[in-house]
Amino acid sequence: MKTGVFGGSFDPVHYGHLILAEQLREEAGLDRVIFIPTFISPFKLTAKAADGEDRLRMLELAFEGNPYFEVSDIELKRGGASYTSDTLRALQALYPEDRLYFIMGTDAFLGIEGWHESEELLTTYSFIVGRRKGYSDEELDAVAEDLKERCGCDVRCFDIPELEISSSDLRLRHQAGRSLKYQVPRAVIDYMDEKGLYSGLLKALEDFAAERQSEKRLRHTRGVVECARDFALRYGADPFKAMVCAWFHDNFKDAGALEHGCAAAEEIKKRFGISDPDILNALRYHTTGRPDMSLLEKVIKLADYLEPSRSYPGVEELRAALSDDIDEALLAILEHTKEYVLAKGQTYDELSQQAIDHYRQKAAKKA
Ligand SMILES: [Fe+2]
Ligand SMILES: [Fe+2]
Repeated sequence: MKTGVFGGSFDPVHYGHLILAEQLREEAGLDRVIFIPTFISPFKLTAKAADGEDRLRMLELAFEGNPYFEVSDIELKRGGASYTSDTLRALQALYPEDRLYFIMGTDAFLGIEGWHESEELLTTYSFIVGRRKGYSDEELDAVAEDLKERCGCDVRCFDIPELEISSSDLRLRHQAGRSLKYQVPRAVIDYMDEKGLYSGLLKALEDFAAERQSEKRLRHTRGVVECARDFALRYGADPFKAMVCAWFHDNFKDAGALEHGCAAAEEIKKRFGISDPDILNALRYHTTGRPDMSLLEKVIKLADYLEPSRSYPGVEELRAALSDDIDEALLAILEHTKEYVLAKGQTYDELSQQAIDHYRQKAAKKA
């Protein structure tokens, strides 16, 4: 029997995974595909990941009744990080008659010679590589040819449909109460709801901020959260993402006056599994601003400077001058900050100056 082996965190499984497995099964003539959810360390299970049992169950629900797809708890049971060689060896022992076809993407395959026990892997098992966008097909073909010649590696490369669905984006959507319809099978969505998976992010972020921040800073943060939500609604940004950014933006102040934005972006990725580029950029640039900011970036910058507990000279005027043109408000804030920085005899940040130039030009064009 030709058995495909498809590993991943499947957190949660979505139609992108299913379409990929089905297409490769058909094109490579596999008799079945076994999905293997990877173990995720329990200390990483904040608001970001579902536990192994839930990920396993969601997979079962996703292809219930499909005789070609199966799911294995082999890595979950083993616990800890698994080497692919251990997993394949264990599967081979379970199914000694089968030929195992390990399914992977271009990026992973290009690095395979660096894997643990790569020689054994390459000479014992077969490989099915789905060509991924953004990687060179020529390089992949060259590496595959080279491995075939050098160690007789059985590898075949396939064009695959790449759907723009990502599990991390789905988790965020579900957190925000948005629809996952047509991205995730209905039974999986129902299971998430029933078990309350991927919920409670805002509460977890609030607890995190409350633990780290002084009372005064926390009052500021709460103000930014309220303001960010209001501005998001007013200007048409995503209010959920705005609140996520607001809760997190000042958690790493100790990294430096300008640097704590970048630090926050790194930490939210690491601690909460959030990789949404717009959220990361809004955190990164909330201190300096930059030319051509996204709507979310602007909303966070504005909320940070105008939230109710702010009392610096001129804040009332800035609040009163808020109009439907968010760029106008943004420019006013940038210029206000510049004046303040220069008055204190400090140097003004280069990126912030570029932002001012950008929005001045934009205003001049409008006038
Ligand atoms: Fe900040
Ligand atoms: Fe702030």
